[in-house]
Order: sequence, then C-alpha cells, then structure tokens
Amino acid sequence: MTDEKVWLDDVNDLGTLKNVCMKTFFPAADEKLVFGEGPGNASFMIIGEAPGEEEAKSGRPFVGNSGRLLNKYLEEAEIARDHVYITNILKTRPPGNRKPKNSEMSQALPFLERQIQLVRPKIIVCLGSTAVQAIVDPKAKITELRGTWVERGNFKIMPTFHPSAVFRDEGKRQLLKRDLIEAGNMLKRIIPQ
Ligand code: URA
Repeated sequence: MTDEKVWLDDVNDLGTLKNVCMKTFFPAADEKLVFGEGPGNASFMIIGEAPGEEEAKSGRPFVGNSGRLLNKYLEEAEIARDHVYITNILKTRPPGNRKPKNSEMSQALPFLERQIQLVRPKIIVCLGSTAVQAIVDPKAKITELRGTWVERGNFKIMPTFHPSAVFRDEGKRQLLKRDLIEAGNMLKRIIPQ
C-alpha cells in the first residue's frame, strides 16, 4: 500500500480512490493512470483487463480498437456508453501489453472491489477471461461461463468475450453482441426506463 497507509475501506469517494491508485501504481512517465470513467452512480459497469497503448496515452478506458468495437455493440444493444462506468482490473498498462501477472492482479483487485462498492452497479459485464477469473472464479473458463448470469447479492455479473478476442471470429462476435443485449435487457427489467 501507500506510505500513508490509507485503508481502502476508509476511502469514501472515487476521486480519493483515484488519488490513492495514482500513488500506488505510478504509470510510466509518458503514460497516464486509467482509473475508469462514467457516472459515479452508474447502474451498469463494464470491466476489462488492462489499458492498452491508446488508453494509457489518453487516460481513458476502451478508446482503441477494442473500444471502437465495444462502442458499436453497446450502441446495437441500446446501452448508452455515457451511462456506463467502464474500468479495468489493472489501472496502468502492462509493459508491451503483456497479460497481467498474478501479483499485479492481486495488488489491483482491492481497488477495483472498492470502486464497485462506491459505484454500486446493478449489472457488471466482465470482458474476457482475465476479468472473469479475477471477479468470478479463478478457474472459470470463459467459453463455458459466458452468457450466463452470476448472482452476487447486490449485483449480477454477465461474463462475455473480450472485444479483442472477437475481431477475427464471427461466431464469438455474435455471442458478445448477444450477451450485451441480454445485459441491457436485464437492466431495463431491473430499472424500467
Ligand atoms: N483492453 C482492455 O481490457 N481494456 C482497455 O481499456 C482497452 C483494451
């Protein structure tokens, strides 16, 4: 943790949590922390793996190729991106965009858990096996779990494919699209608009 020994349970707002993240994770000199974006009380949250190059440059999640594909499917599912809180397990880019190490995930997870507690979403979409294994079950297989709701007391989780996994796979693309539509419909059932 930080020199100041800030206990995350005592952090009661996203702005302070972001500052603690900044002091804990130190993005590279030419990169930014990608903490997450969206309304601090969003009912719908999306969790990816880690920022890529474009995300680290801009400090915003899902703004590169994966983000453009995600935007397209959100639109088709009639989910307004600016109503969604979007974040990642890791808040800084792993060097060379490699997969996050277990040690990096364990260090980052308490921050994500606090982020979830503060935003209090009703629906969480986990994109890809890294996010699903971190949030749902370390042994989960995305191909088996995707498309099925996981109940977690205050919220429901929809595991699905990461957009980067569907670029060259039409079948998976349709499933990602279907899962987002299902998640959008569930939100409408929970909170009629
Ligand atoms: N992939 C992710 O998992 N997250 C991003 O923000 C961008 C790409």
